[in-house]
Amino acid sequence: MAAHTTYFPPNTFPDLKLSFLLLSILVGMASAQLSSNFYATSCPNALTTISAAVNTTVSNEKRMGASLLRLHFHDCFVNGCDASILLDDTSNFTGEKTALPNANSIRGFDVIDTIKSQLESLCPNVVSCADIVAVAARDSVVALGGPSWTVQLGRRDSTTASLSTANTDIPAPRLNLSGLITSFSNKGFTANEMVALSGSHTIGQARCTNFRTRIYNETNIDSTFAASLRGNCPSTGGDSNLSPLDVTSPTSFDNAYYSNLVSQKGLLHSDQQLFNGGSTDALVNTYSSNLGRFTTDFSNGMVKMGNLSPLTGSNGQIRTNCRSVNSG
Ligand code: HEM
Ligand SMILES: *[C@@H]1O[C@H](CO)[C@@H](O)[C@H](O)[C@H]1NC(C)=O
Ligand SMILES: *[C@@H]1O[C@H](CO)[C@@H](O)[C@H](O)[C@H]1NC(C)=O
Ligand SMILES: *[C@@H]1O[C@H](CO)[C@@H](O)[C@H](O)[C@H]1NC(C)=O
Ligand SMILES: *[C@@H]1O[C@H](CO)[C@@H](O)[C@H](O)[C@H]1NC(C)=O
Repeated sequence: MAAHTTYFPPNTFPDLKLSFLLLSILVGMASAQLSSNFYATSCPNALTTISAAVNTTVSNEKRMGASLLRLHFHDCFVNGCDASILLDDTSNFTGEKTALPNANSIRGFDVIDTIKSQLESLCPNVVSCADIVAVAARDSVVALGGPSWTVQLGRRDSTTASLSTANTDIPAPRLNLSGLITSFSNKGFTANEMVALSGSHTIGQARCTNFRTRIYNETNIDSTFAASLRGNCPSTGGDSNLSPLDVTSPTSFDNAYYSNLVSQKGLLHSDQQLFNGGSTDALVNTYSSNLGRFTTDFSNGMVKMGNLSPLTGSNGQIRTNCRSVNSG
């Protein structure tokens, strides 16, 4: 049995080891972990540049902070945080922008373009569009008075997008509690994490078309609140008219969203599902009275969301223009 070593020349072993090492490096590169200091030497001013741009844009228009947060969510829930949502449709390419949850709704592309062009001047071909979106979401929350968290970095940009996955994997406002729980559990989140991440609706706006049935036909809604919304959301027409998701403090990242739910003042059907006699009522109560619990759980949820199947190492690319795949 000892003879089997003689089948291999002595120098085969170093070669095997070398091959294994090279393979490990390649595999390692393809599945590299994200890290918070990814741009520390390659683009040391990347994070400050993004923060400054977000601060300027949010001070000009507070809602843009909400829009940038949602952009990251809708990116990550469709095949991971890979900037797929930023790709424009062309004659031979269909992206995610016309998906039902995104069409006439998702915003912030121009802000990302502006940041990307600043970063391309500073450090060409280094900072991915997916990382810009992730950092801009965090900086938006901070700019509106919410918590901060450490954004993991090193995501790369996709060369593909999926209209059909955008339509199936982004949760719809008509879902009931079990549908919401399933939608998030499909991405590895617990029901509690779903409730915490829904606190995003403490900022931003929704269109009449997404809450009309609720304010005309649902019974688990404060009647004064419903009546006040009908003025700007007629039973027919006015589909794009906006109302704040958090009627109490629409431009502050606080826990008023949850107090509203306890008062049956959730704007979307899906919002009120979180406090409707079901298993998540207790957590909504907790968050409504404990800002610290909410912001801690929200921050942890955002880090987890930002880690959804990133492209790393040699997978994907660093797009030059966030709206299109590199031509080279
Ligand atoms: C729980 C399931 C969720 C559903 C069903 C849902 C649905 C919606 C809908 C229908 C709108 C209004 C869109 C429009 O009318 O144009 C909206 C807005 C928004 N969503 Fe969600 N969402 C959910 C979870 C989340 C999560 C997890 C985040 C972020 C992490 C988020 C962030 C936002 C923000 C910030 C806005 C306002 C955007 C703006 O004003 O531009 N949502 N959402
Ligand atoms: C942006 O604003 C936040 C506070 O709202 C601040 O902490 C941060 O330093 C600002 N960013 C820059 C680059 O000035
Ligand atoms: C798609 O069209 C663009 C121009 O819009 C062109 O540069 C690209 O090569 C085309 N791609 C394919 C796969 O045909
Ligand atoms: C929730 O919605 C699903 C799909 O529409 C439905 O099958 C289910 O019965 C609903 N569950 C409850 C508790 O209403
Ligand atoms: C309210 O319900 C009625 C009866 O089901 C339906 O005809 C009507 O279209 C609904 N209205 C809205 C705004 O959803």
